[in-house]
Amino acid sequence: MGRVYNFSAGPAALPVAVLERARDEMLDYQGSGMSVMEMSHRSKKYLGIIQHAESMLRSLMGISADYEVLFQQGGASLQFAMVPMNLISDPKGQTADFILTGSWAKKAMKEAKKVFSATRVAASTEDCNFTRIPTQDELRLNPDAVYVHMTTNNTIFGTEFHYTPDTGKVPLVADMSSNVLSRVIDVNRFGIIYAGAQKNLGPSGVTVVIIRKDLVGRNANMPVMLDYKAQAEEQSMLNTPPTYAIYILGLVLEWVRDQGGVAGIEQRNIRQAERLYGVIDASGFYQCPNQKDSRSRMNIPFTLSKPDLTETFLSESNKAGLVTLKGHRSVGGMRASIYNAMPDEGVEALVAFMLDFERRYG
Ligand SMILES: Cc1ncc(COP(=O)(O)O)c(C=O)c1O
Repeated sequence: MGRVYNFSAGPAALPVAVLERARDEMLDYQGSGMSVMEMSHRSKKYLGIIQHAESMLRSLMGISADYEVLFQQGGASLQFAMVPMNLISDPKGQTADFILTGSWAKKAMKEAKKVFSATRVAASTEDCNFTRIPTQDELRLNPDAVYVHMTTNNTIFGTEFHYTPDTGKVPLVADMSSNVLSRVIDVNRFGIIYAGAQKNLGPSGVTVVIIRKDLVGRNANMPVMLDYKAQAEEQSMLNTPPTYAIYILGLVLEWVRDQGGVAGIEQRNIRQAERLYGVIDASGFYQCPNQKDSRSRMNIPFTLSKPDLTETFLSESNKAGLVTLKGHRSVGGMRASIYNAMPDEGVEALVAFMLDFERRYG
C-alpha cells in the first residue's frame, strides 16, 4: 500500500521529506557508522543534534536569551503538573487562573488543584459545549494569580485562540501542543509555552518547554527530574533524553525553515483551513458546530445532516486513502486534523471525496 493522507489528531502525519531523510540516515548517521538511536547522548555527534534542534527552534520562533528551551518527557500531560509544582512558592494562599476552552484545559486545572489550595476559572465556554473561545472582555483575571493557563488550540473541539490574552503582569502559560509552529506568535507575551511534539513538531516522546528565566527555580523543593531549574542547568540532559525523537524534531524544524519558516507555513495553514470550512459552510449536508471567529486551523470537526451516514462516510473515505477522520467521542462525526505536514493535495483529496459523497448521498 502506498502512503495515505492521515488526518489523525496525534500522533500525526510527518513531512515525507523528513521520513526519507531519517530513512537515509538510519544505518549510518553522517559517517558515524551507527544510527542516532544507538548513539551515546553524551557523544559529540549527539550534542550537535540536540544543540541544533534548540537553535533551530529559537530562530524559527524568535525565542530570546531570556528564555530556556527544554526537551522533556512525560508528554504535555506531565506539564499540567510540572507547571504548578515549579511555579508555586507558598502552598498556602497562592492560586492560579484557568481559561477553560476544552477537555485539555480542564485536565490542566485538575492537576493544578492538587498543588494549589485553590484554583480559579477566569472564563469557561463549557455552557456551549466549547464551541467558541472567550473574548478578552470575558476574562475575569485575578491580578494576584501565580499564572494564567490557556490552551491555544483545542484539539478535541476544534477551536483556537486567534488572539493572545492580555494578562497584565501575571505570567501567561500556554499549552500549544496542537498549534505550535503553525502561526507566528510573539513568545515574549508568554511566561511558559509547552507542547507535546507529536502533532506539529515530530514524534511522540519529547515535549518542548519554553520558559522565561525568571520563572525558573521558584520552588526549591522539587524532585530533581521535575525541576525546571535542574533541567535547564543540565541542558535537558539530567538523564538520557529521548534522543531519536529530538533528532526527528530537528529534521522537522529544518523542513519548516524550508517552507518559508513559520510565516510561510501559516499562509498554507490559512489557505487549507479556509478551503475545508468553505466546503462545509457552502453545503447544507456538512456542518461545523463552532463559531466562525473561534475555529481552529488545525482540527476541523464536522458532522452530517444525515448522522446515520457517518459510518459509511468513515469507511468509504478510509478505502479512498483518507484515514483517521473519526471525530472524538465527545463530539462525534468527523474531525480532519490538518497540521503543518498535511500537503495541499491531502486537503484537495478530502474536499473531492466530500463533494462526491454529498452528490451520492446528500
Ligand atoms: C492540547 C493538548 N494538550 C495536551 C495533550 C496531551 O498530550 P500528551 O499526550 O503529550 O500528554 C494533547 C493531546 O492530544 C492536546 O491535544
